[in-house]
Amino acid sequence: MTESYSTLRVNADRMLASFIHLASIGATGDGGVSRVTFSEAHLAARKWFRAEIESAGLEFRMDGAGNHSALLSCGPADAPTLLLGSHLDSVPNGGRFDGALGVVAALEVLKTIKENRIRLKLNLEAIDFTDEEGTLVGLLGSAALAGRLDPEALKNPRGGRQNLVEGMKRAGLSEEGMLKATRPKNSLAGYLELHIEQGKRSERAGIDIGIVSVIVGIRSYRLSFIGRADHAGSTLMEDRLDAGQGASAFTLAAREIVMRDFPNCVVNVGKMEFSPGAFNIVPALVDVSLEFRAAGEEEFTRLDSTLMKCAEQEARRFGLELKIEFLGTHSPSLMSVNVQNVFADVCNGLGLTNTSLVSGAGHDGQSLAGICPIGMIFVPSVDGASHAPREFTKWEDCVNGANVFLQAALQLAT
Ligand code: GLV
Ligand code: MN
Ligand code: MN
Repeated sequence: MTESYSTLRVNADRMLASFIHLASIGATGDGGVSRVTFSEAHLAARKWFRAEIESAGLEFRMDGAGNHSALLSCGPADAPTLLLGSHLDSVPNGGRFDGALGVVAALEVLKTIKENRIRLKLNLEAIDFTDEEGTLVGLLGSAALAGRLDPEALKNPRGGRQNLVEGMKRAGLSEEGMLKATRPKNSLAGYLELHIEQGKRSERAGIDIGIVSVIVGIRSYRLSFIGRADHAGSTLMEDRLDAGQGASAFTLAAREIVMRDFPNCVVNVGKMEFSPGAFNIVPALVDVSLEFRAAGEEEFTRLDSTLMKCAEQEARRFGLELKIEFLGTHSPSLMSVNVQNVFADVCNGLGLTNTSLVSGAGHDGQSLAGICPIGMIFVPSVDGASHAPREFTKWEDCVNGANVFLQAALQLAT
């Protein structure tokens, strides 16, 4: 740990006040928040973030992808930047910690370093990335910053093209601007993120800090099971081409396949849209929103082909046509070994127990993997709950995480 700064700590009361204020923006009334990308609540949270940055005397910047940043020039003018961040968007009816904690902690780290007038070898930036959650594209802002935003992803976003276009308009952003938000690789010294675990492992083991080793790969598809609309009363069961049966059979089979043959992977059907969608019409079409995740490349590829084969098989079984639409992928991402070691060193110095964890959730670090060293830490999620209003992390754990974050940033930037 950096000798001269090893006793430095974040201002926990100030960070809590920011966190509480942020949780009130888009609050759902049951402890959660709904701040889907470019919604009024999301834009209000970003406006609040900007005001916080400016009132702390930090420099504010927004790039072409809408990423909001606080800049602290604590290093030489030509020094690269160490990014600290997360996201202010949420899933619909999400929790108040996911993303928000990381942004509030990143800002608090900058405030702490600024008020202590610390000079470092790197400049620091606290960043709120656009659309981490993928209600529109997923990891949109970080992919743009990393120069990895595929123009195709904007043409056919998983959240729907119209929602993207309308949202960008509300936020005053354009496709051209998004595609030009790339930062030069040599300007980035690294990316660090503090996040809630969103699982039960550290809580169960009674461990203070999880140090992420890898973030799983995530891929999504829209599968359309196409049958034929018929009268639901007068058509014999054996005469139906029922798209609902194929989609449902696939959903159940996918779960079985993953549990039996891919015990370290997960699959999710998060949405099924039935058309025409009436009590008395046999479903002619079901659009299935499919997502699956794996930590290793080989397993990821094998899981993909197994699930696609399964969809084809179930469609055939019910006499249906199948349309497969690829919606995007993020490869499994390894965290920097050096950064993991720094985190472990800092935890040990602070007397915090720590363990290495795989992240089953996606994070913006995936966009930056291979471009600069990345590292993430997790703080325990009570009961593992996340993407739901009951998401909760004890404030003491949040503060521990923020102090590890502060000390690791100091160590990496010194
Ligand atoms: C983001 O939280 C994701 O993993 O989908
Ligand atoms: Mn998150
Ligand atoms: Mn999330």
